[in-house]
Amino acid sequence: MTALNINGKTVQVDVDPSTPLLWALRDDLGMTGTKFGCGIAACGACTVHVNGQATRSCITPISAAAGQKITTIEAIGNDKVGKAVQDAWVKLDVAQCGYCQSGQIMSASGLLRGNKKPSDADIDAAMAGNICRCGTYQRIRAAIHEAAKTLA
Ligand code: FES
Ligand code: FES
Repeated sequence: MTALNINGKTVQVDVDPSTPLLWALRDDLGMTGTKFGCGIAACGACTVHVNGQATRSCITPISAAAGQKITTIEAIGNDKVGKAVQDAWVKLDVAQCGYCQSGQIMSASGLLRGNKKPSDADIDAAMAGNICRCGTYQRIRAAIHEAAKTLA
């Protein structure tokens, strides 16, 4: 058994320590908001926060996640920055199919936590690893500016 701190609660998972955090979240804990896209850190769909940093859960083994503070899309709205990002996403109707969007929101929240007023270039750099097949990039950028405005 490995103890994980997820969204402020300690939970136990009975998996091999090399298991990616993504699968413990989805398969063992039933937290399916975090998505599988590529499994090789190339799409961003699986992004969670580890100690406040946007992190690809598909390549983060349970052994590395243990003892860290993990936040998932299910709880990002409990945080002031995460709530502002989610509200901006709804206001600007960012999502199309939605598949990539939890990862987008986690990366955007990570960006705004460290940079209160990101430029377009800052946004493009921070979000470059989050792929959206529906091409919502313009709306994502606008929503990040909107959330920054709300938080100012
Ligand atoms: S599933 Fe992790 S980056 Fe694509
Ligand atoms: S909204 Fe469809 S993949 Fe991004």
